[in-house]
Amino acid sequence: MAEQMSQFEGRVAVITGGARGFGRAFGRALAERGAHTVLTDIDEAEVDRAAAEIREAGGQASAYRLDVADDAAWDGVLADVVARHGGVDILINNAGLHSLEYGVDWARLPVPKLRRLFDVNVMGVMIGTLTARPHMQGRTGANIVNISSSAAFNGMGAYGATKAAVRALTLAWARELGPEGIRVNALAPGLHVTDTIRAEFSPQMIEGHRHHQFLDLEGSEQDIVDAMLYLSSERARFVTGETIRVTAGYASSL
Ligand SMILES: NC(=O)c1ccc[n+]([C@@H]2O[C@H](COP(=O)([O-])OP(=O)(O)OC[C@H]3O[C@@H](n4cnc5c(N)ncnc54)[C@H](O)[C@@H]3O)[C@@H](O)[C@H]2O)c1
Repeated sequence: MAEQMSQFEGRVAVITGGARGFGRAFGRALAERGAHTVLTDIDEAEVDRAAAEIREAGGQASAYRLDVADDAAWDGVLADVVARHGGVDILINNAGLHSLEYGVDWARLPVPKLRRLFDVNVMGVMIGTLTARPHMQGRTGANIVNISSSAAFNGMGAYGATKAAVRALTLAWARELGPEGIRVNALAPGLHVTDTIRAEFSPQMIEGHRHHQFLDLEGSEQDIVDAMLYLSSERARFVTGETIRVTAGYASSL
């Protein structure tokens, strides 16, 4: 237990979309295990609260306002993180637009909206990786976890296309960054009932989703936290380029 609780001691973990949902839960889980967590989010007030919550519980956390699509903002945040902590060991590209708004027919999505979707879900992941890369080189166990989606496997709308791009980038970067000792993997969640999902999906929609899974279970945040803890740890030292589905069979059953 003690070993588990110090598993990430001395590690610096940068998490995007850290104000709520998976990102906030990732921050808590890594901080509980000894990491210094750098929570970033476009929602400054809430990301500040998330970091304060970790510190109040005895963990180490800092918070930054960051729009992942803004490359200058990435430069500023990482320059500060590196000045304070010396580098980055774990990058979790989690921030993403995933509201039901983007699951509709392409024809119903005006170009500015499509552009923003791709800017956040694809360019955000790309810019984050390229900015963090030089600060991860040479750090033992350095790795990146991207958050894709089961929608990457079933061609589900514009949202699915962005998440398929994340899956493709994960493999491309694993190849490119492998020689630098940096592993790159992704997680493809199914439907996990975060506060945002609860607010957007009716109970009937959540229930309906379960009929497409092999297992009759409701997905939770913890399912994704556990998979992230595996991928970002040394237990996954031989794993790179993978997009691991955590879906109770959902993506495979379509
Ligand atoms: N919850 C699910 O069932 C599910 C399933 C598949 C994939 N995902 C993916 O997991 C990730 C997190 O999902 P969640 O359910 O925790 O979402 P969430 O909406 O609860 O949280 C997302 C966070 O990202 C932030 N964000 C949005 N745009 C941003 C930007 N441009 N820059 C920085 N931060 C920004 C939001 O402010 C929010 O705090 C997303 O990439 C989502 O597509 C979620």
